[in-house]
Amino acid sequence: MTVLSAQEGYRLWAATYADETAISFLESELTADLTPPLQDLRLLDAGCGTGRRLSGAGAALAVGVDISPEMLAAGAGRDLGVETMVGDVRDLPLPDRCFDVIWCRLVIGHLPDCAPVYRELARVADAGARLVVTDFHPAAYAAGHRRTFRHGLQVHEIEHYVHGLDQHLAMAGAAGWRLAESRSAAIGPAARPFYEKAGRAALYAEHEGLPVVLALAFDREG
Ligand SMILES: C[S@@+](CC[C@H](N)C(=O)[O-])C[C@H]1O[C@@H](n2cnc3c(N)ncnc32)[C@H](O)[C@@H]1O
Repeated sequence: MTVLSAQEGYRLWAATYADETAISFLESELTADLTPPLQDLRLLDAGCGTGRRLSGAGAALAVGVDISPEMLAAGAGRDLGVETMVGDVRDLPLPDRCFDVIWCRLVIGHLPDCAPVYRELARVADAGARLVVTDFHPAAYAAGHRRTFRHGLQVHEIEHYVHGLDQHLAMAGAAGWRLAESRSAAIGPAARPFYEKAGRAALYAEHEGLPVVLALAFDREG
């Protein structure tokens, strides 16, 4: 299997990306737990994909940035109030200190170095802002799992760089983020229907208990 760059991978995946997977489902539960009530708050989804998580989020302002124009175009039916733009999470087309909550969901593992992301997110965060970062869990990668998707008859893999917890904490800390909470989600009963729907029920028992999502919540120091 060839390993695709994130830009090429999501260009191909865009049309079917909206289909929830076991990982995206577990990720969304973790992020919901770590996100404060959003009414009255300005929310940025950095690496928003189609922007699907911004629709219905209930934020006072909802902005999404993604490097893939195809992913943004695939989410064209999102809520009217959601503003999206093409951009790189390491160099956002946004002013300083303008968000109260920032999500960076399942994006950072596509980047070889996580320091520039934490620095750039700190630049656009207002004092006291909450940042929720999620990533493909290093334990899943170590167990041989990869970031794959089906396109027609083919299965493709997208490039992924493993960033351990220590690395996240060091880079985030250096950028002015203080860790509030660290969580992970493992394959369990909530993920079972996704295996069954994909006709892979036999794999469920093999994967049960494996952590697949790492979620970190940080607060921006003054
Ligand atoms: C796994 S998807 C997650 C999308 C969205 N956060 C979600 O949870 O539905 C990863 C996204 O990261 C985007 N991405 C990868 N590298 C990026 C970069 N340097 N800047 C902005 N977006 C990037 C991809 O285009 C893709 O849409």
